[in-house]
Amino acid sequence: MSQPSNPSRRNFLQSAAAGAVALPLARAVPAADSPQTADASTAVAQSAIRLKVNGQFHDLSVEPRLTLLDALREHLALTGTKKGCDRGQCGACTVLVNGRRINSCLTLAIRHSDDDIVTVEGLAASDGRLHPVQTAFMRHDAFQCGFCTPGQICSAVALIDEHKNGPRAQRPMTDDEIRDRMSGNICRCGAYPHILAVVREFVGEAAADG
Ligand code: FES
Ligand code: FES
Repeated sequence: MSQPSNPSRRNFLQSAAAGAVALPLARAVPAADSPQTADASTAVAQSAIRLKVNGQFHDLSVEPRLTLLDALREHLALTGTKKGCDRGQCGACTVLVNGRRINSCLTLAIRHSDDDIVTVEGLAASDGRLHPVQTAFMRHDAFQCGFCTPGQICSAVALIDEHKNGPRAQRPMTDDEIRDRMSGNICRCGAYPHILAVVREFVGEAAADG
């Protein structure tokens, strides 16, 4: 007997895929965390930066040591980009910078003034239609808990663009090539076969046949 769908789980997972989960900020950036930081002699200088994220410019005053990941999550409330390891090992923080995928935990926000930054929240069209890769993630059930999903989706979007605009665009990617090019994004739930199916649909042999 078929099971009725569970609307709450489905809604949650769709929200994760779209990066549309608007969680409240886990913490605001305090003016002073402790008596020590209130001391003017230990105050960290702030730098004025302008970030272009999902087509919108944001003028911020930040500590020079602030990562792009923390700028997105804590200053711009773009919490679709996840913090997993915070050291370049999991890919949960993947965003697109000038069309290329990067780990936003490994780069400083001040290095990206006026770069074109796209997060998972910026992939959908202005009328709300999801990016084709986002709908493919849902169609293939390519997630379980959804934590790695925004990074997986951003990485897949970039991989597909890299392939279609690269010298081997006429040749479909093999499954091993796709696995290799997606290997920077870890999924602890093991949704890899479904994620592979998503990317294969765009650049694999099935895409070439279609
Ligand atoms: S949080 Fe950036 S790679 Fe893990
Ligand atoms: S879906 Fe849970 S970590 Fe990938």
